[in-house]
Amino acid sequence: MVTIAPSILAADFANFGAEIEAVEAQGADWIHVDVMDGHFVPNITFGPQMCAAIRPHVKTVMDVHLMIAPVDPYIEAFAAAGADILTAHAEAGPHLHRTLQAIRAAGCRPGVAINPGTPPDAVRPVLDLVDLVCVMTVNPGFGGQGFLDSMIPKIAQLRAWAPDIHIEIDGGVGAGNARRLVEAGADVLVAGSSVFKGGSVTDPAAYGANIRAIRTAATSVAA
Ligand code: DX5
Ligand code: ZN
Repeated sequence: MVTIAPSILAADFANFGAEIEAVEAQGADWIHVDVMDGHFVPNITFGPQMCAAIRPHVKTVMDVHLMIAPVDPYIEAFAAAGADILTAHAEAGPHLHRTLQAIRAAGCRPGVAINPGTPPDAVRPVLDLVDLVCVMTVNPGFGGQGFLDSMIPKIAQLRAWAPDIHIEIDGGVGAGNARRLVEAGADVLVAGSSVFKGGSVTDPAAYGANIRAIRTAATSVAA
């Protein structure tokens, strides 16, 4: 089973509630929420108040990807906003272990993300603390970038070290590479532009077709 997590970074920013309801009705398993601070990454999106506002519209899992530094001062706010999964970057500060403990203590499922330039070894000492590792397959900050093939060996390495946690792939994911990602050991695929392309809240059928195309490609592994 593969989990498909559409990123609302590719949705209509003026209409998040309806976009989330539409994409869930069309088959999304989780909703991926990209929080950017203009400091850790060169783009700014939204903060805990926006997460709290969209929370009632999310019936599945709110998967919050923090691209911010520092992380620790904001953990309580994102937990209070209703994040189910709260993912921090390994590169975001010197005390990753403490950050992940604090996320768990705040009542969220901890995740850890690594940038393309970071080796998987960077998170090996904290794999026992997390429910999810997010392997970035683009440089974080923007949707719609090209997938970095050279990241695929990291997935297999992490899966070998951690058979029982989620391995999430984020950036440039679509039907064209889903199969390779799942074969390498991924079980959660974040997809922004490849899910939201061609549709809208008033015409959401494309969301469903796009999700089905990714799921079909991903689950053709065993065939
Ligand atoms: C990038 C974000 C991704 C992004 C993916 O910094 O973390 O979640 O929305 O977008 P696509 O699927 O368009 O590459
Ligand atoms: Zn993301």
